[in-house]
Amino acid sequence: MVIEQRRILVAGGCGYIGSHTLVSLLSDTKFQYSVVVVDDLSNSSAESLNRVADIVSLEGGFVSSNNGNSGQDIQGRLIFRKVDCTNQSALRQVFEEFAPHGGFDAVVHFAGLKAVGESKLVPLKYYEVNIGATIVLLSLMEEFGCRSIVFSSSATVYGVAKDEKAKLKETDEVGTTITNCYGRTKYMIEQILTDFHGSHAFLREQQQQHQNDEHSDKFQDWSIVILRYFNPAGAHPSGKMGEDPSGVPNNLMPFVAQVAVGRRPHVTVFGNDYDTPDGTGIRDYLHVMDLADGHVSALRYIDTNNTTEDGGEKKTKSGSGKLSIFNLGTGTGYSVLDMVNAFGKAVGKPIPYVLGPRRPGDVTIYMADPTRAKEEMEWEAKLNLDDMCNDLWSWQTNNPNGYNKE
Ligand code: NAD
Ligand code: WQD
Repeated sequence: MVIEQRRILVAGGCGYIGSHTLVSLLSDTKFQYSVVVVDDLSNSSAESLNRVADIVSLEGGFVSSNNGNSGQDIQGRLIFRKVDCTNQSALRQVFEEFAPHGGFDAVVHFAGLKAVGESKLVPLKYYEVNIGATIVLLSLMEEFGCRSIVFSSSATVYGVAKDEKAKLKETDEVGTTITNCYGRTKYMIEQILTDFHGSHAFLREQQQQHQNDEHSDKFQDWSIVILRYFNPAGAHPSGKMGEDPSGVPNNLMPFVAQVAVGRRPHVTVFGNDYDTPDGTGIRDYLHVMDLADGHVSALRYIDTNNTTEDGGEKKTKSGSGKLSIFNLGTGTGYSVLDMVNAFGKAVGKPIPYVLGPRRPGDVTIYMADPTRAKEEMEWEAKLNLDDMCNDLWSWQTNNPNGYNKE
């Protein structure tokens, strides 16, 4: 059987979710993916790519610089270019470099800033980077004829739900009650993608009216998949790759892991007076490898939709004209104390914690209804809470100070 090849541009691929997704892509059995990672390393280290290469046994590791005589570089399956995605001319060079070799079949877009608290202090930076990088990417994709994109959105776009105890569906209202600037950048990007998609659908209609040729290759259709992640946690089961937050972790699980390893004295539980069984906030935590696989499912979904049967012959169109939104979560919620206790079980000793006040902007419960992802792109989470905790503990003990640190 001939395995089809695809080249994917992964923006922000050195980070936590991006690096795990690289492992899923490079291990896929349906397509042989080659990936080109662009990242400015503002919140990551290129060491994550060494770990990816090690995990997937990539001969020769990853290729990092274009030496000008790029024939050999270009053949690599894991290529890195240090680029700030808000810098259009720098990113254009990457598109130009790969254009003579077939360009990119799709872009997976992780690049951006994600610290909720920081976003309230420096909103312009968040708008500039998150929205700026997206606009630059979309313009270059359009210019170079790559019309399939998977975008990292967040459950945070749902804001404060009307019924806080209900599982969130993709059709629920988004945008109006978001509690922070970071979340608004994600919501705005979803709107940009929707408007962008709408403009192409309009153009297609015009073209069809005037030419009445449904199969014209001139239609500039796009395939857009928006993934709304719930709470990613855990690490690659090898213990070689995981989340490497700089400074004090903002999220619960990396903080708990640093307490367990002795880097911090205790976890502060932000509020125990919520309307939940133990009074602490409930979230839908999903294993980062399940989340990584969700991107492979999204790319397959795009590929299937982009491929048409034309007189028995398979043809890959530029894009299907579909914009799809999927929640990626497990559909199960755990409280803060559930998580602290589960991690204690993985470590073999209780994790010290103190009860503190609520963190401003936090909601009571966030849980996904992940039905659509299962029905339409055949994705569902397979790993459980113990897997998340065991794998995170293994990463933390093998790399107590993260990547590249003594
Ligand atoms: P991360 O910070 O580990 O990864 C983001 C990567 O983007 C980093 O490697 C960073 O260096 C890079 N980057 C930032 N600005 C860039 C720029 N201008 N040009 C190029 N690269 C740039 O974060 P993550 O947890 O892996 O998240 C990936 C994506 O998923 C982000 O868009 C984030 O908002 C989104 N997301 C994350 C979570 C979560 O809890 N981790 C939840 C929902 C959505
Ligand atoms: C989880 C629970 C806290 C730390 C954030 C973003 C969201 C998405 C995922 C990017 C809450 C409690 C936490 C601590 C605690 N990121 N907590 N003590 O807030 O659900 O979601 O990350 O897109 O957009 O908002 O995740 O891990 O910060 O908190 O008690 O030291 O743990 O109150 O109930 P959150 P989190």
